[in-house]
Amino acid sequence: MFNFEFYAPTRVIFGKETETRAGELVKEYGGTRVLIHFGGKSAERSGLLDRVKASLDAAGIFHVELGGVVPNPHIGKVYEGIELAKVNNIDFILAVGGGSVIDSSKAIAYGMTEPDKDVWELYAHERQAKGCLPIGVILTIAAAGSEMSNSSVITNEKTGTKRDYGNNMGRPKFAIMNPELTTTLPDYQTESGCTDIMMHTMERYFTQGGNMEVTDEIAEGILRTVMKYAEILHTDPTNYEARAEVMWASSLAHNDLTGCGNDGGDFASHMIEHEMGGMFDVTHGAGLAAVWPSWARYVYKEDLPRFVRYAEKVMGVTRTEGLSDEDVALAGIEAMEAFYHRIGMPVNMTELGISPTEEQMQTMAEGAVRAVGGPLGSAKKLEVEDIVKIYQMAK
Ligand code: NZQ
Ligand code: ZN
Repeated sequence: MFNFEFYAPTRVIFGKETETRAGELVKEYGGTRVLIHFGGKSAERSGLLDRVKASLDAAGIFHVELGGVVPNPHIGKVYEGIELAKVNNIDFILAVGGGSVIDSSKAIAYGMTEPDKDVWELYAHERQAKGCLPIGVILTIAAAGSEMSNSSVITNEKTGTKRDYGNNMGRPKFAIMNPELTTTLPDYQTESGCTDIMMHTMERYFTQGGNMEVTDEIAEGILRTVMKYAEILHTDPTNYEARAEVMWASSLAHNDLTGCGNDGGDFASHMIEHEMGGMFDVTHGAGLAAVWPSWARYVYKEDLPRFVRYAEKVMGVTRTEGLSDEDVALAGIEAMEAFYHRIGMPVNMTELGISPTEEQMQTMAEGAVRAVGGPLGSAKKLEVEDIVKIYQMAK
């Protein structure tokens, strides 16, 4: 077991109508001049934005707003947010949306504390942040886990490069989570979200050593629960209990709880997908589903006991007479693919709707290694040529 530090300072306010507490909470955390940051039209259409503004007004808090954050959020919007925040002396950022809006908010919050420097330098891993404005979240999609994570992922739309930056200062002060807010999601986004939640757990599960029984049991519980409710939501999208289970799972999967005792996780599938997101603008969770089976088949022999345990304890594979460990591990991967198909997710890049050339695969593989500054992964260390092979297998 590895030593670990667990730090999850975000206060969670969970349940129906909790968004009405936004004003009171911002005030409690010292916010007096707020930038409300949101995405496309969903928060306006549902009336959520009006309810949030009413709550800030009731608390007597000044606010300006900036919408238009796109999935795989752009650095250009971050720069716009920093300018707007500077002009208005903003001291608190309120993110109303999903991972993309929260990540854009984190980038603005870092940028505001050093407005004379280019915030992209953090994402290019050229320097560390010195500060971060306080952030609050009103979550509208269960997926990225950014509401409790230290990480944010931004795309430089000019170069097609998607990069992440992690710092504990970026963890939101509070996260309001009302599962009812997620009932307006298109099915593809709901299921991409469920896939991402599972992947955040699996990235920390498929590692080399350092595993604790209690961590494994929590991880397996999260995975089985999300699988169950992802299928329910596929046919019953307004089911409150299912929305609630998945929403809480999104935070637990990425607040580092399932990484306690291991080596920090594999995260190769994420890095491989981020390159696809930067180059082809695919939906993050669906992109993960499209690469995971190929990644798993490429690495499973190097981490066989974990893949066997996963097959048996998560995917419900039963070991019949004569089956080897390798057979059981492969049956687990096949069962995962069958699950992805049942919830409408792709299991390769063709099904995802992209077909990168050999040259593009090489570029993405090099980008993934550059993003982490060396080989990817824990289950098996992956060099550029390994990643190219995984892209080729995922065609
Ligand atoms: O823009 P609007 O109109 O709001 O539409 C959004 C968007 O099109 C829509 N949506 C969100 N809530 C809705 C809704 N539509 C109807 N009703 C609602 N209640 O859903 C679409 C996707 O939104 P987005 O915020 O992009 O989703 P998600 O939460 O999956 O975030 C994805 C981003 O997070 C990054 C991903 O790479 C990607 O850029 N990640 C961030 C992480 C982190 N910060 O810790 C970790 C993750 O691994 C991930 O990389
Ligand atoms: Zn993810």
